[in-house]
Amino acid sequence: MSSSEVKHVPILKDVIVQSLIEPFKLLSSDAPSCWLVDCTFGGGGHTGAFLKAFEDSTEFRRHSILALDQDPEAVERGKIRFKDAIAAGRLEILQRNFSEAGELLEQRPVLGLLADLGFSSDQLEDRNRGLSFQWEGPLDMRLNPTQGRSCLELLKQVSEFELEQILREFGEERFSKRIAAFLVESRRRGELPKTTKGLVDLVVRATPHHARHGKIHVATRTFQALRIAVNEEMEVLDRLLDSVIPRIRPGGRAAVISFHSLEDRKVKNQFKNQDLFRALTKKPIEANDEELSVNPRSRSAKLRIAERLVG
Ligand SMILES: C[S@@+](CC[C@H](N)C(=O)[O-])C[C@H]1O[C@@H](n2cnc3c(N)ncnc32)[C@H](O)[C@@H]1O
Repeated sequence: MSSSEVKHVPILKDVIVQSLIEPFKLLSSDAPSCWLVDCTFGGGGHTGAFLKAFEDSTEFRRHSILALDQDPEAVERGKIRFKDAIAAGRLEILQRNFSEAGELLEQRPVLGLLADLGFSSDQLEDRNRGLSFQWEGPLDMRLNPTQGRSCLELLKQVSEFELEQILREFGEERFSKRIAAFLVESRRRGELPKTTKGLVDLVVRATPHHARHGKIHVATRTFQALRIAVNEEMEVLDRLLDSVIPRIRPGGRAAVISFHSLEDRKVKNQFKNQDLFRALTKKPIEANDEELSVNPRSRSAKLRIAERLVG
């Protein structure tokens, strides 16, 4: 893959662009220019679509986009891919965790925000990150490899009880107790797996024979759970919902795509807060058959959109 090439296909792109652009249409022509924030730039699929929507209409051309990603590589690739929009002052890309974006929203009038949670296809396929059980790689799993503890460090430090909780809550893994016990026993013997394949082998051994060949790979849930824990995905989502999204200007909109029932529940509950938001999606929007056929990753995506209320 060349330095600016991306594989990630943006999910529910059209409905997101149409909905987030709506508040900009209501601005009078002499209103100050505003910002749309893409909190999870990734491969820039949604950012590219927002840029196009702004560019295609003289009415919108004065507005700008701020894109954030915690992954330094995604940011560097984006700066190459979108160098013209950046030079023209229509786009700013910053390496930042979205949980720390509150101040950025204080400094700018923001009328639209997107968070497309989790990881990109490019990160999944980067063997050095150890996010996929399909390829051999180090047990790292950090979306920002320059910060925090790797998966291996986490496995060295957590208690068996915490590990069991992580696997059960974040992975909904029914053999959480057995896998946690196997991991702690391998740690006691100084034989903790250091690579993705090593972890897969351990999960297979910990899983009863009759359950080893289900619809999904037997290590899927363990990998998901550990990735969520390593990147503190629930904690940063709480901060996004509680102290970033409420700073959108009244009348502005927020869209969040989640891939896990715990995440979706958090988004749903925050958007129910009638002092702050009017939920525009009573039920989450999901990909249709056409999108599913070209982008299997969209299968578990749930999109919720809300409007920030005046007050
Ligand atoms: C699903 S991808 C986004 C794909 C993007 N919408 C596109 O169309 O190309 C998620 C991206 O969000 C980033 N990300 C995940 N959690 C983040 C966080 N807390 N702060 C900033 N970026 C985050 C990941 O590094 C990844 O690049």
